[in-house]
Amino acid sequence: MSLKILVVSVEVAPYAKVGGLADVASSLPVELKNQGHDVKILMPGYGLAERAAPNAVESVVAPFDVKVNKFWKVRSTLKETDWNGVPVWLLNGEGLFDGIVRSEDVYTPGRDAYLYFAKAALEACEQAGWIPDVIHCNDWHTGFLPVVLRELGGEKWSQTASVYTIHNLAYQGEFGKDTLAALDLPEKLFNMHQLETYGGVNFLKSGCVFADQVNTVSPNYAEEIQTEEFGCRQWGLMRDLAKLGRLRGILNGIDVDFFNPETDEHLPSNFGLQSGLQGKARCKAELQKELGLPVQADVPMLSAVSRLSDQKGFDHMIRAAYGLLSFPAQWVILAVGDPGAAAELRKLEAEWPDRFRFVERFDAPLAQKIYAGSDIFLMPSAFEPCGLGQLIAMRYGTVPVVRRTGGLADTVREPENGFVFEHRSPRGLFDATQRAVQAYRDPQQWSQIVENGMRGDYGWESSARKYVEMYEAALASRKTAVAIG
Ligand code: GLC
Repeated sequence: MSLKILVVSVEVAPYAKVGGLADVASSLPVELKNQGHDVKILMPGYGLAERAAPNAVESVVAPFDVKVNKFWKVRSTLKETDWNGVPVWLLNGEGLFDGIVRSEDVYTPGRDAYLYFAKAALEACEQAGWIPDVIHCNDWHTGFLPVVLRELGGEKWSQTASVYTIHNLAYQGEFGKDTLAALDLPEKLFNMHQLETYGGVNFLKSGCVFADQVNTVSPNYAEEIQTEEFGCRQWGLMRDLAKLGRLRGILNGIDVDFFNPETDEHLPSNFGLQSGLQGKARCKAELQKELGLPVQADVPMLSAVSRLSDQKGFDHMIRAAYGLLSFPAQWVILAVGDPGAAAELRKLEAEWPDRFRFVERFDAPLAQKIYAGSDIFLMPSAFEPCGLGQLIAMRYGTVPVVRRTGGLADTVREPENGFVFEHRSPRGLFDATQRAVQAYRDPQQWSQIVENGMRGDYGWESSARKYVEMYEAALASRKTAVAIG
């Protein structure tokens, strides 16, 4: 059965990208469309998004008003562009999103803008005369959409199911009880089974409770979040959802046409299993040149493309670096985030100018060149719902060193396609990296590991089918709910 699916996210590549969510929000819909579904992507109409749009952006309906609550009415516009055949809707409430012109500011709009967005999402569909079968929400910013759908949607929306995907349980969107009044929601919903959480209102919990199905982005993380250690104070809820058959783990894919070393236009030289790996050696030399590092083919090049936060393990990377840099190796880190970590990385660069580079900016083309030009990719994450970096790295013939957690545990296996450590410590990372460097010294062993990684299937096809199964399960439970009233 072909479904009408609205995928909602506050970041969508290439229009506005901060992290992996943006990649998922644009690549999954394309595969769903290829599998025969009628899909649209909905995102905030940031100034940034319009500028980044590779195709024309046009208004699709006349400006309309969205009544968020008794006192707040917002003049709104809905524009459309196209992403590989999937319509992308850019929804803007006057003054709420259009002023955002830098990636750094994508997460600044705040609670009321996201409440507006939840209500405006339904209104936009009505204005366009397109009522989806399923609304697919992503992360806490969209957590109130399932609530609005059920509590305020009324008859027109009674057949529409919602699903909620957790890309990162650590960010939940916690606010006060007045959140209910901000949407004119009835006070009676403020109870622990619905909108109340630890005395306040929590967007993520609200989304999970009101959605028909919930999932996270790898099977292993779906298990982990049911434990106190990884559950971020929601493990009881996660367990309950799992018991009710409402929690799944579906592994992320990547856009394998975009992340393709055979065709990637950002690379100085293309390469692949078919055409051979000589091109990868050229990418390494060019990368060393671009970074101002000595051009040396036989020195292992370590890399990380990430967000500077303890989640991503930078605390341990920095401590392990002192040991790792005493051996012949080069290291490049491309990341923005925590200023303390940035200062430490700058210090490392000053101490090891011939071995260490820290590039502190968003730079997608450089990221591709790093995936292609380095040998070993480090992801010592404290927790990792899925992780896309290790998948891209493997596709580009770069061997990941990861901590056994979340999606990293589902995708990297030592010694088949990478190196894995268990304990969260600088020592664990150091030892695993040493094992990788040792293997690098044995060309035969190394090329086997590289090849195994490059051969992996990182596309969306099978995961998109699992999403469709989840959408169908969500619709089935909706039908039952409508039937029993
Ligand atoms: C978040 C998670 C990451 C995941 C991505 C896309 O950024 O931290 O693990 O891959 O979302 O789902």
